[in-house]
Amino acid sequence: MCGIIGILGKQEAAPRLMDGLKRLEYRGYDSAGIATLVNGRIDRRRAEGKLDNLARVLEGEPLTGTAGIGHTRWATHGVPNEANAHPHATDHVAIVHNGIIENYQELRERVGDPSLFLSETDTEVVAHLVGAYLAQGLSPEEAVDCTLPLLEGAFAFVMIFAGHHDLMIGARRGSPLAIGYGEGEMFFGSDALALAPLTKRICYLEEGDWAVVRPDGATIRQLGEDGRSRPVERAVRETAVSGAMIGKGNYRHFMEKEIHEQPAVIGDTLHSYLNPAEGTLTLPGLPIDPAAVPKVTISACGTASYAGMVGKYWIEQLARLPTEVDIGSELRYRETPLPEGGLALFISQSGETMDTLEALRYAKRAGQTILSIVNVPESTIARESDAVLLTQAGPEIGVASTKAFTTQLTVLAALAMAFAKARGTLDRTREAALAAALAEVPGRAAEVLNHDAHIASIARAVADARDVFYMGRGTGYPIALEGALKLKEISYIHAEGYAAGEMKHGPIALIEEDVPVVMIAPSGPLFDKTASNVQEMVSRGGKVIFLSDAEGLTRMRTMAKPFAEIELPKVDPFVAPILYAIPIQLLAYHTAVLKGTDVDQPRNLAKSVTVE
Ligand code: F6R
Repeated sequence: MCGIIGILGKQEAAPRLMDGLKRLEYRGYDSAGIATLVNGRIDRRRAEGKLDNLARVLEGEPLTGTAGIGHTRWATHGVPNEANAHPHATDHVAIVHNGIIENYQELRERVGDPSLFLSETDTEVVAHLVGAYLAQGLSPEEAVDCTLPLLEGAFAFVMIFAGHHDLMIGARRGSPLAIGYGEGEMFFGSDALALAPLTKRICYLEEGDWAVVRPDGATIRQLGEDGRSRPVERAVRETAVSGAMIGKGNYRHFMEKEIHEQPAVIGDTLHSYLNPAEGTLTLPGLPIDPAAVPKVTISACGTASYAGMVGKYWIEQLARLPTEVDIGSELRYRETPLPEGGLALFISQSGETMDTLEALRYAKRAGQTILSIVNVPESTIARESDAVLLTQAGPEIGVASTKAFTTQLTVLAALAMAFAKARGTLDRTREAALAAALAEVPGRAAEVLNHDAHIASIARAVADARDVFYMGRGTGYPIALEGALKLKEISYIHAEGYAAGEMKHGPIALIEEDVPVVMIAPSGPLFDKTASNVQEMVSRGGKVIFLSDAEGLTRMRTMAKPFAEIELPKVDPFVAPILYAIPIQLLAYHTAVLKGTDVDQPRNLAKSVTVE
């Protein structure tokens, strides 16, 4: 979602702000803008659409000045046009904001004069409130201090002030914000990637913090429940994120690069949990005894929730531990009863997804022990958890999640095994067999990637379709859901995922001549049932794209002829969902490339969904 960058520098700010915004593009946006201080006055340039448009505006009317703020906006209140683009400004203050000011209507009335408002956004009112306090003679710090307690909702914002070249003020409530420490320069960024080439020394603001930043450092205060601010100390850390991590290399798109990184990042993730030589698995000390846990409640959104569904199958099958999966936006509002001593597990690539975070807070209030699987160690979800299991996917820039998903599955597989060991439902021989199967996954994933060209050729049939169906059984079912989601979000083709056994209960009515049906069918205990579903699809004219191993493909050919086959390595059914995720990602990717869509930044989508 919206990206923020702020610079109090020694060089021209505009090119550096644009560079920072470029690195934030992956979050998804539909307009952008920057403001700098030029001879003490606020000046700004904004444009609807992509950064190229803003760059053209700046070419025509350059902005000078060494202090400035920049923003990529993902529209919530008000359409994506220039007037609604950030920064919003008065003569005295300019603001960039991520999140939603929920009481903005009420605050607009408090400001009074409606003719002051030039946009439909919830953000602009904050500039007017601060501006009004400045007009009364308050200093910028005092004006922000008076404004903050008036705001309801979730936000991160950064402001610059006319006549104050050496000052930026930023605040965080709900949406992340980091301060970057340079040599005589200071920065703000909505994530470490924005700051990567500028500095490695970063301080993440905590909930309720606001910071007064000057070229030689920052003073941080925390807004208390009584509406008063008190000084706090926050640690400055070295971040591992580097500018080099965010190039596309020789790939056309980040998504393609990230799909191809999977053997390596699954390997890196496994490395933290598995000892392949000894065939054993170790998780860092968990804050619970899995043998005493009555129930696991998993919550996440989108792709991460499908990883959670696979996790449910694994935990229930291996550890015989009842597990429920709920999407974040439902768990928090349906007043789910959670049992005493229960474990709640949250899965999130970004660690900032608002619905998942609020579900976590709900579970915490209900007395659950909080465990999370995240890709960003400094994220809010990680910080609010009792224990964290990290995926080692590295920065995921493509909006459609790929390597984050398979590394989440990798951690969940290890977790299910650890629970099973602790509960006495996994003997040493089976543990060694599963550990060996997991250890093979990176190599097997590399084999799957060798089918890239073949999958690209099958994508033609999918690209011409109006509707596409994905089906699987067992852990193949969430993979079918994930396949349909990947296709929808980047190719804009209507797609549905179903449990194969559910087709006859309604959806089969939609199968007609030439409708593509992607079947996830690893050989194993559920193969024959899935194969009979394939026969039902083929006999109704469906173009079945059949994903199985050599054994499954051979058996299938004796029953019905699929339209296309994708051969995967034969593996223990336990690890099959990790591998079967890869061809469905490639199929979606190649279909989107054929359709000419914006693969890395699909329309309407944001990488990290920090509003409800
Ligand atoms: C789909 C996708 C989204 C995310 C979801 C949760 O490709 O990326 O469905 O999985 O928005 O995001 P995180 O994992 O950051 O909580």
